[in-house]
Amino acid sequence: MHVLLIGGNRFVGRLLAWRLLAGGHRVTLLNRGNVADPFGERVERLRADRAGPDFERLLEGRSFDAVVDLAAYTGEDGRRAAALLEGRTRHYLMVSTGQVYLVREGCPHPAREPAREEYYDGPVMARPEDPAERDDWEYGVGKRACEDALAAARGFPATRVRIPMVNGPLDYFRRIERYLWRLADGGPVILPGGGAHRVRHVDGSEVARFLASILLREDTFGRAYNLAQEETPTLRELVEALGRLLGSGAAIAEPPAERVRAAGLDPAVLSPFHDRWMSFLDPGRARDELGFRHAPLEHCLAAVVSSFTCHTRADRPPGCERRAEERALALALASGGAG
Ligand SMILES: NC(=O)c1ccc[n+]([C@@H]2O[C@H](COP(=O)([O-])OP(=O)(O)OC[C@H]3O[C@@H](n4cnc5c(N)ncnc54)[C@H](OP(=O)(O)O)[C@@H]3O)[C@@H](O)[C@H]2O)c1
Repeated sequence: MHVLLIGGNRFVGRLLAWRLLAGGHRVTLLNRGNVADPFGERVERLRADRAGPDFERLLEGRSFDAVVDLAAYTGEDGRRAAALLEGRTRHYLMVSTGQVYLVREGCPHPAREPAREEYYDGPVMARPEDPAERDDWEYGVGKRACEDALAAARGFPATRVRIPMVNGPLDYFRRIERYLWRLADGGPVILPGGGAHRVRHVDGSEVARFLASILLREDTFGRAYNLAQEETPTLRELVEALGRLLGSGAAIAEPPAERVRAAGLDPAVLSPFHDRWMSFLDPGRARDELGFRHAPLEHCLAAVVSSFTCHTRADRPPGCERRAEERALALALASGGAG
């Protein structure tokens, strides 16, 4: 197969490109070239901003067995992709997000019920007043507009794949890494608001494996699928599992989020899995209809920990520069002080 990846140079797309190349396929990457990929002569590279005129110019007259779009964020992205690639590819897959549910008015709260694909339809909630919430809201609304444009493009063979937070060794948000640094430096790990809520993410390699497996599956045309791990540990259980894999006995502190804010620290920077913009998906459709099986969570976490210990980075993730203040807060909490 000849597969075009829009993106393909950072995380999930990079893992997919590797998998396709390993499987003997021909791969073309289209991106702006801000992030270097590691594929040398093995891939064709098209340099373009997908929102600009080069997108059409470079793809004019080209055709591909499949296209995987890892950089589609707006209704216009979806409309242009459908208009340009119609008749030029046998299958187009868009990587979407679980946030399409979080911005849906009246969608069951993720803590009560995992989001199923049929919860998608309905009105979108109003734009939040709080500027801190707006980027997440706009991201979810933009992804919805893109999905809607693809669904409206009658006859265009498109599939939408919705994913929650993605973990894995290449995660450029460095989410799990933030917990690992704090476990590795002796602790404590602070979980603002506590660690009792359940988390259900997905591993980047598993997303890549799934995408590769459905490249030519016509039964997915026009459909949307959630992907997520089966396990639903609490955040505290997840951090404890990371501690075991790392051999760390660091303590875990669970102060109220307000207490963390009062100490001048940002809960979401300290603990990215604290964020309320964290979707919780039901992966039943992909499992039952397409046979999707996610590798065991422990196995995925072990890969992240191995990468953390083998491919050491000198720079710590954002927030770690304020470890002394985190420790002071933990000490104050332990002694019942004001912090
Ligand atoms: N990571 C998560 O937790 C998460 C969660 C839910 C959904 N997702 C979705 O997963 C998808 C995959 O992300 P990924 O980073 O792992 O994939 P990737 O294919 O490895 O990287 C995406 C690449 O797209 C390129 N790109 C972005 N905007 C572009 C534009 N306007 N024109 C051309 N290229 C552009 C960027 O490279 P250049 O800067 O070099 O152009 C970026 O490196 C995204 O659609 C994201 O919304 C991710």
